[in-house]
Amino acid sequence: MSRTVYVNGVYVPEEEARISVFDRGFLFADGVYEVTSVLGGKLIDFAGHVARLHRSLGELELTLPVTDAELLAIHRELVARDGVEEGMVYLQVTRGAADRDFAYPEAAVPSLVLFTQSKPLIDSASARNGIRVITVPDLRWARRDIKTVQLLAPSICKMMAKKAGKDDAWMVEDGFVTEGTSNNAYIVTTDGVIVTRQLGTEILHGITRAAVLRLAREAQMKVEERPFTVEETKAAAEAFFTSASAFVTPVIEIDGAAVGAGTPGPVATRLREIYIAESRAHAI
Ligand code: PDD
Repeated sequence: MSRTVYVNGVYVPEEEARISVFDRGFLFADGVYEVTSVLGGKLIDFAGHVARLHRSLGELELTLPVTDAELLAIHRELVARDGVEEGMVYLQVTRGAADRDFAYPEAAVPSLVLFTQSKPLIDSASARNGIRVITVPDLRWARRDIKTVQLLAPSICKMMAKKAGKDDAWMVEDGFVTEGTSNNAYIVTTDGVIVTRQLGTEILHGITRAAVLRLAREAQMKVEERPFTVEETKAAAEAFFTSASAFVTPVIEIDGAAVGAGTPGPVATRLREIYIAESRAHAI
């Protein structure tokens, strides 16, 4: 069954969704995106995703062609039209179409595209079994805090993992883990401390990360926001990652070495449960 795609003010069947070849999203990756999860037909942490969208847009002097209320209405309309119970809504804003030039065009009208992806999020093999990662050099640019659509470097890193027969790559810079190819990375030390890299330009400021750290602190778990190494990961009791589409997912192996017992650990398992319960309770 064909999905409905929102393109610049109209809802069309996906086969009819079109964007100009002159769109700067196509020519320059001049655009930003968000991925918001859907559980029980409702949106998880919509306010957080919109806040980060505005931050990304602001950093690139881009404007959102609709109001936040209209954006919410578009999300809901697509979820309803596509009958999404569990999955994601993808949204992309680009600077729009203009003759090719490195300077931002003055007159371009931003393009806005949204579509849904139905997918089981709660019952996933990765969550049940944990995933295996390799480490790779972080090939990305210096402003990873902006959620741009230039995703070739993380795609290359992901392919390196797949070719090695593993599930994902943790990217490493100056000896420290930055994040996963499309998620934030964590370890749990043998003392039970949850460690994840502090916010900065080196990583994306995950919306799931913010919620999970808040919930961990509320549950009296100890959290440290600092860089950690691959060696620390190998010596850790547990490792896990977070993202809108995977919630909290255990990491059971890094570069061929088992992390902890080599099975999903109690901290990751508990955080996943708390996060899903909290998300369901506040979904809109
Ligand atoms: N990826 N780091 C990177 C590099 C990401 O691409 C993502 C999200 C995250 C986690 O952020 P959040 O918790 O807000 O989803 C961290 C999305 C899901 C994607 O590209 O599909």
